[in-house]
Amino acid sequence: MATSSNTTTIGVVGAGTMGRGIAQLFLQAGHMVRCHDAQPGAAAKAVEYVDGMLARAVEKGRMTTADHQAARGRLQACNALEELAGCTLVIEAIVEDLEAKRNLFRQLEALVADDAILASNTSSLTVAEIAAACARPGRVAGLHFFNPVPLMKVAEVIAAVRTAPAVVQRLCALTESAGHRAVVTADQPGFLINHAGRGLYTEGLRIVEDQVASPADVDDVLREALGFRMGPFELLDLTGLDVSARVMASIYEQFQQEPRFRPSSLVPPRVAAGLFGRKSGEGWYRYADGQQQRPAARPVPALPTGLAVWVDPQSSGADGLRALAEAAGARTLSQAAEADLLLLQPWGEDATSAALRLGLDAARCVAVDPLPPLALRRTLMLTAVTAPAVRDAAHALLAADGTAVTVINDSPGFIAQRVMATIVNIAANIAQRGIASVADLEDAVRLGLGYPRGPLGWGDHLGAARLLQVLRAQLAATGDPRYRPSAWLQRRVALGLPLTTPEAQR
Ligand SMILES: NC(=O)c1ccc[n+]([C@@H]2O[C@H](COP(=O)([O-])OP(=O)(O)OC[C@H]3O[C@@H](n4cnc5c(N)ncnc54)[C@H](O)[C@@H]3O)[C@@H](O)[C@H]2O)c1
Repeated sequence: MATSSNTTTIGVVGAGTMGRGIAQLFLQAGHMVRCHDAQPGAAAKAVEYVDGMLARAVEKGRMTTADHQAARGRLQACNALEELAGCTLVIEAIVEDLEAKRNLFRQLEALVADDAILASNTSSLTVAEIAAACARPGRVAGLHFFNPVPLMKVAEVIAAVRTAPAVVQRLCALTESAGHRAVVTADQPGFLINHAGRGLYTEGLRIVEDQVASPADVDDVLREALGFRMGPFELLDLTGLDVSARVMASIYEQFQQEPRFRPSSLVPPRVAAGLFGRKSGEGWYRYADGQQQRPAARPVPALPTGLAVWVDPQSSGADGLRALAEAAGARTLSQAAEADLLLLQPWGEDATSAALRLGLDAARCVAVDPLPPLALRRTLMLTAVTAPAVRDAAHALLAADGTAVTVINDSPGFIAQRVMATIVNIAANIAQRGIASVADLEDAVRLGLGYPRGPLGWGDHLGAARLLQVLRAQLAATGDPRYRPSAWLQRRVALGLPLTTPEAQR
């Protein structure tokens, strides 16, 4: 078997959305590409499409006319599957159906040379089930690209239980030679990227389910305070809730009903009602002429004159909060007893528990999320009994310098704390289970999910011990095993080590 990434002949079966992108990628990397589709004329259309994409690259000055002509000469539409016989690698991107894929792999195996590699672009099937249809399962692997393939610069190389290590190496070398980051992952549900991406949805939905905040609040906080490109509800509306609901249910079932991935009961009634998102005109948001209609922001109340504020001196941002209060014209007091508004900054603790722990009057307490810097969107959490006038005074005070404010109900951990603790916990569990190396996990999440940081490095940045505290508080408050902290996370926090520290080798 060849072990370099030199020019080779690559077959692509299935000339739809993914097949076209995969053909373009390898063609641009200098390989010969043969494209086949069961639908008559589909392969020729795909060739036309790829040719058009290359012509656009020439127009934009990203490719020379000579390179375009040369690439065009290396691309061939094949009416018969038999024309793929000379390929050293065939990538399958047909319909997501196990029997269809197994049939195709059986036919391909009879055609290609003994040392040719067969790869599937499946996003949800177990690669071993496809490989099991072959006489030589060692040559079968997953090669999972993301849409649009040329722009999503990462691919998962899925090592099924019987995939030969040389096949994994060869696929990695080919993928990297085409300019994409190849990450190696075990043949586990959701592989690496869809697995790591679960936490954003499960915890976002749980926050809404618990009546802590609205979908728009969750999206706003995660986008503006943490730097996500989109919040979970915006993403669900983009993908389509009907599609996402199937993925959520499938990953949960494939993980033997692991509570961390339990789908939300909020979803099935919304799917039944046709609230799919953008494509149906209404999802978590309404759409008019393709434009998302955002709910009106809660108006900023007037700041009461002569407001007396006490800030818990134990708060990590106590100085900043006092400075904000004074800049807005409020008085800051050193004794809680005489203050109108008591500000706390608990970590992984609900506002009611924090008020009781400090012996404060819960009706006058409001908690401020210490996680994002105070300069970004500010999240205020009420106790179960915060008086409306106290809530409004806190909102007015924290918004006085023009910063946006989100007001949420009581919860152990604010929106950002809960979502980040969940994402980091799932990532730690991926590392613990050896589904991927730490380096591959970190890059895959940045490139595949577009998060501003890899999840373990992000956990270190925010404070792994504090995120562990959020999980423990959630577990204690709800008894829900979805919040049990991963052993990887607990050990590294106990040792005071970065979460990215690999496990010792046995
Ligand atoms: N669309 C995505 O965002 C995405 C992302 C990653 C992975 N995937 C996976 O990639 C695969 C293809 O998805 P897609 O979105 O490109 O689908 P698609 O419907 O756009 O294209 C599939 C193509 O396969 C052809 N086809 C079906 N059965 C065939 C067969 N037996 N032999 C030859 N051709 C056949 C169809 O005619 C069609 O042209 C699926 O396994 C899917 O799960 C899709």
